Amino acid sequence: MLDASFVYGATGVALLSFLLFNFFNKDRRALDAIPTIGPSGPLVSYIGAFRYLYDAPGMIQEGYDKFKGRAFKIAKMDTWLVVVSGSKLIDEVRRAPDDVLSFAEAINDIKDQTVSIEYTLGPNVHTNEYHIPIVRSQLTRSLTSIFPEVKDEVFTALNEIIAPKGDEWLALPALDTVMQVVCRASNRVFVGLPLCRNKDYCKANVNFAIDVMASAFFLNMFPRIMRPALGNMLTLVPRTVRRIEKHLRPIIEDRLRTMEEYGDEWTDRPNDMLQWLLEDAEGDERTVTNWTIRMMVVNFAAIHTSSMSFTLALFHLAANPEHYLGPMREEIERVVEEEGWSKASMQKMRKLDSFLRESQRLTGLDALAMTRRVMKPFTLSDGTKIPPGVHLACDAQGTHMDDENYPSGAVFDGFRFANMRDGDGESTKHQFVSTTTDYIPFGHGRHACPGRFFAAAELKAMMAHLVMNYDVKLEAEGVRPKDLWLSTSRSPNRTAKVLFRKRQL
Ligand code: HEM
Ligand SMILES: *[C@@H]1O[C@H](CO)[C@@H](O)[C@H](O)[C@H]1NC(C)=O
Ligand SMILES: *[C@@H]1O[C@H](CO)[C@@H](O)[C@H](O)[C@H]1NC(C)=O
Repeated sequence: MLDASFVYGATGVALLSFLLFNFFNKDRRALDAIPTIGPSGPLVSYIGAFRYLYDAPGMIQEGYDKFKGRAFKIAKMDTWLVVVSGSKLIDEVRRAPDDVLSFAEAINDIKDQTVSIEYTLGPNVHTNEYHIPIVRSQLTRSLTSIFPEVKDEVFTALNEIIAPKGDEWLALPALDTVMQVVCRASNRVFVGLPLCRNKDYCKANVNFAIDVMASAFFLNMFPRIMRPALGNMLTLVPRTVRRIEKHLRPIIEDRLRTMEEYGDEWTDRPNDMLQWLLEDAEGDERTVTNWTIRMMVVNFAAIHTSSMSFTLALFHLAANPEHYLGPMREEIERVVEEEGWSKASMQKMRKLDSFLRESQRLTGLDALAMTRRVMKPFTLSDGTKIPPGVHLACDAQGTHMDDENYPSGAVFDGFRFANMRDGDGESTKHQFVSTTTDYIPFGHGRHACPGRFFAAAELKAMMAHLVMNYDVKLEAEGVRPKDLWLSTSRSPNRTAKVLFRKRQL
């Protein structure tokens, strides 16, 4: 789709416009007081911006080591990024109102940079986020009642997809395998049976997320003004919308007919995401295409985050099975014997919960968290002034690796949080879904991920079934495949395999 000369030419244009932008950029003077990681002169800061594309975690760590508890800045292609750390400053970011530090505008900037969502999915996804309160309230409130379905889909999918013969080891590409399971289990709750098991539907949703992530890195290099055109050239989105719409249209039309016919009398209405979207959408949103797009957006938020997060944890488990399988099996067996499988019983599996939390602490999906666009001049309690227009984010990597927050912070200790819970008697503070100023992989405060309660239930059901039914190891035994970085985003090695065998003892 893109030949090399086009990429070189376009990169040249991007570089030139960046230099011009920097030359005339007025914000620079207001920002001069904040220390910079990477060169900061008017014409050389682009070196920092390029380093940011391939070594963001290194720059962020350098910033933390030099300026812990304060602010530092990094040049991005089209704006400055100010990074803060320390409980005090992170809490100031959390508390700032949206008209000062805007989550939505930062997301919009990032969406512009990544998907050009406005030009591919339509401007309404920008401005009307009616699916967010649905995820936050209906989905989260229904977790107890829908858990049996999540569990059923997770167990069925894993049994089908990971089916080693006899006592043999079966090698499967970890991320692909996990994506299939996550897509099925999530869509059991989003659209229900039988569509959640449809291979074409799931493949389209998974590929959509991957297309978007791949375009992201490329589009990120260009000034905003060039992105709409480039976004349209790059993206396969309209085709994917049609492909997914083909599956959803008959279901949507059927449900609308039933809603029309029975109204409130329809007592056994489905308890799923599609139904909540059908009931809560207003005005122009009430078209099959717009409902399809909305389902894709929810799938997008859910699938790749959950799959990557789970795969990163699975690599920790498979690197050290002799240490972790035994204690987790013992815990899960005891809880299930006492109370079976339910959302409440999953909450009692503290070692399992701790393992997933520890994986996100050490190997979370982003070196930064809580990115905001500064809308009005913002002054931190240490006197640092941040002008409007720039991005402000919290240092997740530095915070999570700091020995003062987590003793031996660079070491993976799967039961770290279970031990902390036993130690200080605080039963909920250290659980997977809790956010604090020291734990920000889901963000923190009113914009923290609304899907995390669902994600936790789903990922714990997956991990519990794996641990109870399989032995696991890596191709190179004990050697965890190295993670990959794309700017500030971490991903697990996308091709590495995990070996599964039927549980032997
Ligand atoms: C382990 C899996 C997941 C991780 C690590 C994750 C992480 C995040 C993070 C970091 C944010 C931004 C918070 C901020 O900047 O303050 C976010 C927002 C969001 N997440 Fe998740 N997420 C996960 C799973 C899910 C799932 C399963 C869903 C849907 C069912 C979901 C739906 C959303 C939505 C809708 C938002 C936007 C919230 C808003 O605009 O206010 N996430 N997530
Ligand atoms: C979707 O919704 C937007 C506004 O919310 C409207 O302008 C547009 O016509 C709708 N598109 C389709 C294809 O239904
Ligand atoms: C990912 O893992 C595969 C298989 O273990 C290995 O061959 C490859 O080099 C790894 N890729 C990266 C980028 O580390």
